[in-house]
Amino acid sequence: MYNLEDIQNDVKNILSEKRYIHSVGVMKQAEYLARKYNEDIQIAKTVGIVHDIAKEMSREEKLEYANKNNIYVDDIEKVSVGLLHAKIGADICKRKYNFTEQMQDAIKYHTTGNIRMDKLAKIIYIADKTEENRKYDDLAYVRELADKDLNECLLYILNYSITENVEKGKLVHPDTILLRNKLLMDLEK
Ligand SMILES: [Fe+2]
Ligand SMILES: [Fe+2]
Repeated sequence: MYNLEDIQNDVKNILSEKRYIHSVGVMKQAEYLARKYNEDIQIAKTVGIVHDIAKEMSREEKLEYANKNNIYVDDIEKVSVGLLHAKIGADICKRKYNFTEQMQDAIKYHTTGNIRMDKLAKIIYIADKTEENRKYDDLAYVRELADKDLNECLLYILNYSITENVEKGKLVHPDTILLRNKLLMDLEK
């Protein structure tokens, strides 16, 4: 079974100092949101601290890990290999810490988003973008939205990141678009 302190230590040993600090920020913000939205606090903290465990693997290491462990690499991930850190992170946590499906999914969906996201996954996604070390123009507003409504906040972040990717001429993962459409339709009901 997983133990938060042990996992936090592993994260500290595996990741750079900068990314470790980000991970602690996500853990704290996930705790805050879990408390606010009645989600399991210990689970939210555990997923928060470890969500980027595979982020600093090289492109080659990611592709090799995916290949060896039968992780499906889609067309977008073949080009934007960095995206794979989510699926790989989930797989590592399954094998190493025996994470539940729900916890694995929250890690799996933290980068592109997915229409199957539950409350925990939304909390992790939002915590990743609103933790205390993040710096961008409308962060204060995004935090306000996170306090108000998880779905509205998620939609705002998705719009922001889709727009940014389009402006930079970068690929947008279809899962991100599907989630945005679903949230838009749900919020209009
Ligand atoms: Fe990440
Ligand atoms: Fe992150």
